[in-house]
Amino acid sequence: MAYLSTDKVEHHFHDVVIIGAGGAGLRCALQLADARYRVAVVSKVLPTRSHTVAAQGGMNAALGNVTSDHWHWHMYDTIKGSDYLGDQDAIEYMCRAAPQLVRELEHQGVPFSRQDDGTIYQRPFGGQSREFGEGGQASRTCAAADRTGHAILHTMYQQNLRAGTHFYEEFFALDLITDEGGCQGVMAWDIANGQYHLFQAKAVILATGGAGRIFQTTTNAHICTGDGGALCLDAGLPVEDMEFYQFHPTGIADVGPLITEAVRGEGGYLLNSEGERFMQRYAPTAKDLASRDVVSRAIAIEIREGRGCGPKKDHALLKLDHLGEDLILKRLPNIHELALRFSGVDCTKEPIPVQPTAHYTMGGVPSNRFGEVVFTQGKDTETVMPGLYAIGEAACVSVHGANRLGGNSLLEIIVFGRACGNQVMKRLKAHRYHPKLDPDCWQPGVERIERWLSGSGERDKRIAQLRAEMQSVMQAHFSVYRTEDVMAEGVQHIETVAAQLQHAGIEDTNRLFNTELIEALELENLMALARVTAAGALARKESRGAHARDDYPERDDKTWMKHTLGRICDGKVELDYKPVRTRPMTVESFPPKKRVY
Ligand code: SIN
Repeated sequence: MAYLSTDKVEHHFHDVVIIGAGGAGLRCALQLADARYRVAVVSKVLPTRSHTVAAQGGMNAALGNVTSDHWHWHMYDTIKGSDYLGDQDAIEYMCRAAPQLVRELEHQGVPFSRQDDGTIYQRPFGGQSREFGEGGQASRTCAAADRTGHAILHTMYQQNLRAGTHFYEEFFALDLITDEGGCQGVMAWDIANGQYHLFQAKAVILATGGAGRIFQTTTNAHICTGDGGALCLDAGLPVEDMEFYQFHPTGIADVGPLITEAVRGEGGYLLNSEGERFMQRYAPTAKDLASRDVVSRAIAIEIREGRGCGPKKDHALLKLDHLGEDLILKRLPNIHELALRFSGVDCTKEPIPVQPTAHYTMGGVPSNRFGEVVFTQGKDTETVMPGLYAIGEAACVSVHGANRLGGNSLLEIIVFGRACGNQVMKRLKAHRYHPKLDPDCWQPGVERIERWLSGSGERDKRIAQLRAEMQSVMQAHFSVYRTEDVMAEGVQHIETVAAQLQHAGIEDTNRLFNTELIEALELENLMALARVTAAGALARKESRGAHARDDYPERDDKTWMKHTLGRICDGKVELDYKPVRTRPMTVESFPPKKRVY
């Protein structure tokens, strides 16, 4: 291939390269840029289009502005919410750090909503208690109306501009550069002008967000294609707990966009076709504010048993008009607009049709609470991959275990973005110079593009068609409820679609702003993660958090209180397991018990 020559690859040197410009990437970049390191953020979209912008309801921290609260209760709720699969050291770290980091965000410029006394507004969210157990609902979620992610992302971007972070916008990450010293950089493609770029760095941080686009109906933007996890799989590293996919109970029916849990936090509630507030049957104490897996399953059962709403009896109704127009327009203005646009409903007058919708990737790149990517070598020994880090939804720390609590995602990106920045600084002090790279290290990245642009692939199935097939298999076979037969069939289908992608081609072989090419690369990433998700789900013979099996309805702590690690070796998915970290940093651990809300 004539194009493959080094003079066509622009070589950049940075201390740190961060892939992804969402809240996690930008918080990490800020920590490092403020310390005067040379930081590059490589993002496939303009930074303020990153998916953090879509996070609505808020960020958890035990500030105690509205109800009494304590980080220890937050820790307990998070462990219980995770169905005891979360790593308790990381959860303690996150919940302890939360109040300080919310105040820091406030000082950095995040325009949080206020209470009458001027303190930060906090609303109740699902799974929040005021003691260890069922003792009352806490108001722990700090909010900027229902645009909290938007406020945080824009503040972080502006702070990074001030701090001198280097942005490479509309660059697609192709391949991690690794050698015996660890991760040394990343190959990327400039989407606009079709140039190759080799970013050499002493630390590479994956902050690429989730992979919600493996499903058909999702709250996730089209950009959520699991790029970081797929880069790791390609480098021979595992991804963790991919079978745990959160279905948010209230996506707008048929179309998917998120209707925030804040609606229920402010006093909205769900109804079935009989006009019944059915959540009181499923969660007598927390009702509509039970954790998300519980509420999503309740809606699925109502639909399955014929009490769904609408002509197809396929959704529930979310009623909030009783809150009054003033409160809705002040606290939930974005919801008002989304409901109008996507379902033609004025929610100050009528309920919104909602359905469980794929929302959050609890799994991801295995990492520890310092953001370091870890893998297991032999039985139970965890090794750090030098120079490689993962944070935010791309990572599996694991603070969410089998089910994330609403409001812990914006918290995670800030806590671990900052923690990772601090850890990377330690590495930078010990690694002052860029090592010499293998002169051919850029080849795999280049070949990944050139295979598509050569025009040699089969074109009987378009990329869009293969993507639709993958999404429909994942939706039909790995949704809210799962069974052996349905999943086994799903694994076979996914393997067939994945094999077709290997030989597929694209029509547009232009190098400039080739969106068909980008969609092909994204589908490669999604497909790798869908394969691991499907295999991990089929193997896990229990129900835990978001993984609910009709044929194994109970949680099985004896056999299955362990994290799944999925790799792709010689083209085949291989599974392994590692123990849950049940020891917190300083307090006593919370042993598993039955989860009731
Ligand atoms: C929501 O506002 O319901 C979404 C926020 C989250 O997923 O934590």
